[in-house]
Amino acid sequence: MSPGNEAILEAQALSKHFGGTAALKEVSFSAAAGEILGLIGPNGAGKTTLLNLLSGVLRPTSGKVLFRGRDLTGLKTHAVARMGIARTLQTPRSFPSMTVLENVAVGALFGHPHGRTDGAIKSLDLVGLGERRASPMSSLNLQERKMVELARALAMEPRVVLIDEAMSGLNPTEIEDSMRLIRRVRSQTGVTIIWVEHVVKAIMEVVERIIVLNFGQVIATGSPAEIARNDAVVEAYLGTKA
Ligand SMILES: Nc1ncnc2c1ncn2[C@@H]1O[C@H](COP(=O)(O)OP(=O)(O)OP(=O)(O)O)[C@@H](O)[C@H]1O
Ligand SMILES: [Mg+2]
Repeated sequence: MSPGNEAILEAQALSKHFGGTAALKEVSFSAAAGEILGLIGPNGAGKTTLLNLLSGVLRPTSGKVLFRGRDLTGLKTHAVARMGIARTLQTPRSFPSMTVLENVAVGALFGHPHGRTDGAIKSLDLVGLGERRASPMSSLNLQERKMVELARALAMEPRVVLIDEAMSGLNPTEIEDSMRLIRRVRSQTGVTIIWVEHVVKAIMEVVERIIVLNFGQVIATGSPAEIARNDAVVEAYLGTKA
């Protein structure tokens, strides 16, 4: 683990079954405080399911989630959020007729019962959308909507943020932009980021460590360079050696 050595979030043998389908099988890993950890793998590998277990959206069939050593398994989303784990959604959901700021303030409120808009303003500034705060949500493009989604999670002042696909559907310039932004968010807040992404180039350049899921199991963990030359990962997901 890097950069700090203290584990902030830990998954212990997490399994999740949907009827007869085992979406996750005994997945274990830990994230160090302040680290950006990438989570990659083919469609249906279990990435979103794993984020759902870490954020309390779903209960694991077996296994545990520990946050700063405390067992969070089975807690509801609002309790998990209040403890300091926030997430973004793979498909951003927003209130189109509300302003950008109002959409982010919903996040601040969710994390803290007495949440204030200054937290929302701060996190909008952090993602570079401070000047759009009074615009209607419906006037934003896809990249901006994804950044609002991130700002909403950050407005809860989390210790860990779980990002589900920040880059899909974006053009190369927007991807470069979003990569800079994720680096900036981490350096300015020290938040731990667990980031699911199919845009492999982006994840390879930003994260410290990558976990690869395939058919619900961890098939590799390592630095981006190690992952790029891992035969099992190349075969299951990357296709060609990077
Ligand atoms: N609520 C659910 N009910 C039944 N099956 C589900 C449910 N959620 C996920 N699954 C199944 O679990 C498996 C893992 O799905 P998941 O959405 O976690 O994959 P993913 O890695 O996020 O894929 P993608 O890259 O396409 O987003 C798939 O087989 C999926 O069909
Ligand atoms: Mg997914």
